[in-house]
Formats: sequence, structure tokens, C-alpha cells
Amino acid sequence: MTKVALVTGSSSGIGYETSLLLARNQIATYASMRNLKKGQDLLKIVTNEKIPLKVIQLDVDDDKSVMNAVNTIVEENGRIDILVNNAGFDMFGPLEDLTIDEIKAQFETNFFGLIRTTKAVIPTMRKQQSGTIVNISSLGGRIGLMPFLTAYHASKFAVEGFTESLRQELVQFNIDVILIEPGAIRSNFIDNSKNAKNYNPENSPYSNTIQKVFEGFESIMGNSSHPEDVAETILKAVNTTTPDMRYPVGKDAEFALNVREKLSDKEMEKWARESYMDKKGFIRE
Ligand SMILES: NC(=O)c1ccc[n+]([C@@H]2O[C@H](COP(=O)([O-])OP(=O)(O)OC[C@H]3O[C@@H](n4cnc5c(N)ncnc54)[C@H](OP(=O)(O)O)[C@@H]3O)[C@@H](O)[C@H]2O)c1
Repeated sequence: MTKVALVTGSSSGIGYETSLLLARNQIATYASMRNLKKGQDLLKIVTNEKIPLKVIQLDVDDDKSVMNAVNTIVEENGRIDILVNNAGFDMFGPLEDLTIDEIKAQFETNFFGLIRTTKAVIPTMRKQQSGTIVNISSLGGRIGLMPFLTAYHASKFAVEGFTESLRQELVQFNIDVILIEPGAIRSNFIDNSKNAKNYNPENSPYSNTIQKVFEGFESIMGNSSHPEDVAETILKAVNTTTPDMRYPVGKDAEFALNVREKLSDKEMEKWARESYMDKKGFIRE
């Protein structure tokens, strides 16, 4: 039986590479994206390689769009075996400058979007008594590493708690729910980052720290991984009979989570500050 997968946010980065890798491994894959014009690249590869991949419209913020996509997949295949909840972005800025609407928008995509898509596939997976839901969290869903990412960290922490509880709810139907926790990944993530509209570097009391954080990003990106690394981890997880609950991706994520287990909260906070303020990065002696 050919497995059927739906991946959200497939126009770039992790979603793009995951869709390709699943399809190249003969999983019938729906690479979904909110703007179909961004699917041209994938479609060219499909023509060249003849892999089982279709591009489909899906905006995780939009109930109708999610239902349309899931209904189409179920009509065409009668099943959905894998959902990769990947769509997401980060909202950057001092909390003082973030409006409640901006914070809600962050949660709308990273948290409620993931819930919306998950709710849409559960009835099918429950009926077929199988399925794997892969939630792309982050190292930042385990540790509030960076300042000015309050809304982002909060949205990913929310994904973690949501996943832990849902696992217990769906285990009776043989549905797995797992977490992928990438460290820094070289994708379009930073370019797609949104800034608080009220933040003005000219007169903000946070400007100096923000400048230092930006400079610190470079040392963090020095140990970054690639979207393909995340895709490989996802493929491995969905091909495992009893997958783990969590899959950190990247040496930086593994290192930081290891450090987290050994240090007190205060020591961890100091360690995190040094990683960006003193440009030490996440991996060190
Ligand atoms: N890059 C990192 O360092 C890193 C680390 C840990 C976790 N992550 C997580 O990995 C996931 C993928 O990020 P990435 O690194 O691959 O970044 P990316 O290259 O910016 O890709 C993000 C994808 O999400 C899509 N998206 C955003 N809002 C959407 C919406 N409302 N509906 C549907 N799609 C939407 C984007 O589509 P458009 O092209 O339409 O904008 C894009 O395809 C995110 O959840 C992110 O939080 C990233």
C-alpha cells in the first residue's frame, strides 16, 4: 500500500525538502502551500523525476483552505498516513512593541494553524486506525533561548504541550504524534521573519541589545544545519514502527538540550546569554 502524506509550508526550506524526500521515497506526497505560484520549482522536479508529488493550496490560517485540501486528498486516496505540520514563521521585536494582534498572528500560524490541520486529518486517521502527525517545533520550543522572540518561543512551547497531551489521546487509535526540534537551519526563515511594526531602531531603548543579538546570530548560524537534515530525520521517524516522542535536529540542538539537562535554570540562562551576547554560539567546550 502506498502511503499518503500532507506537508504544510512546502514553498521553501524544511517543507520543500521534506515533500521532495518523502515523494522520492515513493510516498504519495501533497506539497501544500498558500501561494501556488511558488510551486513551479517542485513541479519541474516532478516532471523530470516522475515522483509521486502533487502541489496543493493550503493556508494554515484559513479553515476553508485546510478543509478543501484535506477533503481533496481523502477523495483522491481514501486515506492520509502522514501529516507534517511545518508551516511557520517568527515574529521579532521587544514585547513592548509587539501588538496583541501581531502576537495573535504568530499563534494563528504556528499554533492554531497546526491544530486546524491536525483536527482536519484526525477523523480519517482514526477510521483507518493508523497515522503519524509530525509537528515541527524547535529547540526554541524546549528552551526560551533568545530575547525578542517571546511570541515565537511561546508558540513553539505551546506546540510541545499540545503534542504531549494529544499523543495520549490518539494512542488508542494507533496514531503517533511526534515532535521535531531543529536547531538553527539555513532556510528562508530569517528572510521571512516579521518585525514588530512599532519597533523603531532610531529611538528604541532596546536597539543596542537587538544589535548585539543580530551579531550573535552569526555565531549561532555557524553551527547550523540544512533543511535536508530535518527532512531526513522526518523520513526516518515516519518509517519507524514505534517512533520517539522527540527528535532534535542538528549538533547545536543536541548540544543545547544536553546542556539543559545538566544546568540549573539560572546557569542555563547565563549559558544562553553568552551564546548570543558574547558570540559563543550554542556549541562550545
Ligand atoms: N530555520 C530555522 O532555524 C528553524 C529552526 C527551528 C524550527 N523551525 C521551524 O521550521 C518550520 C519551517 O521553517 P523553515 O526554516 O523552513 O522556514 P521558511 O523557509 O521560511 O519556510 C516557512 C514555510 O512556512 C510557510 N508558511 C508561513 N505561513 C503560512 C501559512 N499561513 N500557511 C501556509 N504556509 C505558511 C511559508 O510559506 P510562504 O512562502 O507562503 O511564506 C514557507 O513555505 C517553521 O515551523 C519554523 O518555526 C525553523
